[in-house]
Amino acid sequence: MKPTALVAGNWKMNGLASSQAELEALGNYLRDGDTADCGVLICPPFTLVASFAANAPEGVAIGAQDCHTNKSGAHTGDISAEMLRDAGAAFIIVGHSERRADHGEDSALVCAKAEAVLAEGLTAIVCVGETEAERDAGKTLDIVLGQVAASVPAESTPENTVVAYEPVWAIGTGRTPTVEDVAEVHTAIRGALVERFGEAGNGFRILYGGSVKPSNASELMAADNVNGALVGGASLKAADFNGIIDAYR
Ligand code: G3P
Repeated sequence: MKPTALVAGNWKMNGLASSQAELEALGNYLRDGDTADCGVLICPPFTLVASFAANAPEGVAIGAQDCHTNKSGAHTGDISAEMLRDAGAAFIIVGHSERRADHGEDSALVCAKAEAVLAEGLTAIVCVGETEAERDAGKTLDIVLGQVAASVPAESTPENTVVAYEPVWAIGTGRTPTVEDVAEVHTAIRGALVERFGEAGNGFRILYGGSVKPSNASELMAADNVNGALVGGASLKAADFNGIIDAYR
């Protein structure tokens, strides 16, 4: 059975209190249209999670971009999945390549964070993706499947875990893989999930991320085993994000 699509916006370190207007604009658009075939999620910075969750328009879920592995304790500057659930988050992104690169997070840590998300009854969005050097060396599938194997928890189900394939070299660059390349990687991820989780592996959503825009969303979203998008820059403006959601109308 084909999973219901998800279009998720990762705002990264962007957004002030005034950003509420973008959320409202998105809600007005969604009320006008049919999104039954597509879930919509916004992951703002931590400071906005509670207010966005309290004011989320119908049909828009709110999530966060990272969490600690522990519930609480002496971890200055960190935030737990329990605290994010308490603030109203329904999803938490873990293992984004910017966390892997900027904070030295490896797949074992990403898996532990995903387990912390699942333990709170939330949905983890586990990110994987190769660097340009790895792609040039022909290692894309090795890297991506290795990250999937080591980052996705044993307790994962299609309901509590989403996998996001984001080639590092496509993030924020305006470059994307070909549709055929995207389909190849997504189909390989699907195969690995089926091998590990049996028939349930077919139910996991596998999102594509990396320079998704209104102009390329339809062709990327139509590729085999692509079940939605994880969008960075184009999620910051409701008009652009709406254009990507249009790929599912
Ligand atoms: O998590 C989404 C992201 O890394 C993609 O960013 O700006 O290329 O859409 P962008």
